[in-house]
Amino acid sequence: MATLDLSAIELKDPDVYVDGVPHASFRALREHDPVHWHPEADGPGFWAITKHADVVAISKDPKRFSSAARFIYYEEIDEESMAIRRSMIETDPPEHTRLRRIVSPLFTPKMVEDYRGHARAVADRLLDQAVARGSFDWVHDICEMMPIRIFVDVFGAPESDADRLARLANMLVAVDDPDLAPPPEMYAAARARGFEPHHLPFSSPAALELFDYAQALCDARRAEPRDDLITRLVEAEWEGDRLTDNELVNFCQLLVFAGNETTRNSLATGMHRFIEQPDQLDLLDRDRALMKGAVEEVLRWATPIYAFRRTATEDVELRGKEIKAGDKLMLYYISANFDEEVFPDPERFDVTRDAAAQVVFGGGGPHYCLGAFLARMQVETLFTAVLDRGLRFAVDGPTARLRSNFGNGFKTLPVRVVAGR
Ligand code: HEM
Repeated sequence: MATLDLSAIELKDPDVYVDGVPHASFRALREHDPVHWHPEADGPGFWAITKHADVVAISKDPKRFSSAARFIYYEEIDEESMAIRRSMIETDPPEHTRLRRIVSPLFTPKMVEDYRGHARAVADRLLDQAVARGSFDWVHDICEMMPIRIFVDVFGAPESDADRLARLANMLVAVDDPDLAPPPEMYAAARARGFEPHHLPFSSPAALELFDYAQALCDARRAEPRDDLITRLVEAEWEGDRLTDNELVNFCQLLVFAGNETTRNSLATGMHRFIEQPDQLDLLDRDRALMKGAVEEVLRWATPIYAFRRTATEDVELRGKEIKAGDKLMLYYISANFDEEVFPDPERFDVTRDAAAQVVFGGGGPHYCLGAFLARMQVETLFTAVLDRGLRFAVDGPTARLRSNFGNGFKTLPVRVVAGR
């Protein structure tokens, strides 16, 4: 490969990701400049962290690398916006420890097992409906529908709200994609209520609608408790401590974004890969014992979130680079998951490889994804349902990827059934 001009590498522009993950750029950075200073046209610049070991070490060191100081994505936001937007993912210990203790009993592997039957029923129903048509959009008809339906069930929201929540989740994170971004009237409505979009999560007015939605649901469950996650959240306590109203709605908003787009993108990229490499699906079919490992490899390959940010709280030296207090560091999970030091021949998709070290859910440490078991269960459930039906697909038209520097995935993947019962 001709040497890439490292100073010309661009990782923030959403256009860079439209045609695929820029693996060549990440490969070059891992090899030549793993702690790389990346200037920004509209910001102070940041350190691009591309090695697996560094992503893990920084994730596990919240004291020196804060999630709260300037938040967890590229944008620089003021104190006022931070106060409105803060959910647990943008807190540091000990505040984070307090929030995490209250909510983590609701996401244990045992709880997730309770949802498996429902997840399988959802997968079966969606596959039956779509396959009967012969050709359909894997993203729209399966991936967009499945996580949100499981989510509303877990959450305790009416199933009839699933489509609306899926649309809002799209509008929340896809503000850079003209096909999915919120309509102008939603921006106007937020301004009319005194909210500038940059005050809201992802600078999206859809967040306001999600806050309202969550508030109404929390109020309803407070008045009339049920056996669902919202009721448990409203009632959850740790040593007499409960979530405040603001913490509750921010947490619900976090769940909608964290739990849906991400899972959906892993289901879409996973199927795309299996279509490209049908031998891998056949292998899995012949030996279902490979399934747990295959889920890790699908997730590694899909890496639905490209990166999250940390902010240095003190001067630190890393691989000879002098990081100053206040500097922004972007932890590129997408690069760490293709680090040849951890995953030999990383650009080969192989369901038999040991991909357990993937950092799809973060590099460990206090913020490690709360929904990791739920996400894994959904990936396993969908691909098991596909195999149980002997289904095989072919791409049936132009595919399109998200225009986003945050979410790695497809917005359309037209498929045709080529085998199945
Ligand atoms: C494949 C799907 C998913 C991916 C790729 C993913 C990825 C991530 C990542 C990278 C983090 C941040 C880790 C860090 O900052 O160190 C995170 C945190 C989080 N995720 Fe997920 N996630 C997924 C599914 C879910 C699901 C299904 C839920 C819940 C229903 C969920 C809820 C959360 C929450 C609440 C946090 C914040 C945890 C904290 O701050 O302590 N995620 N996730």
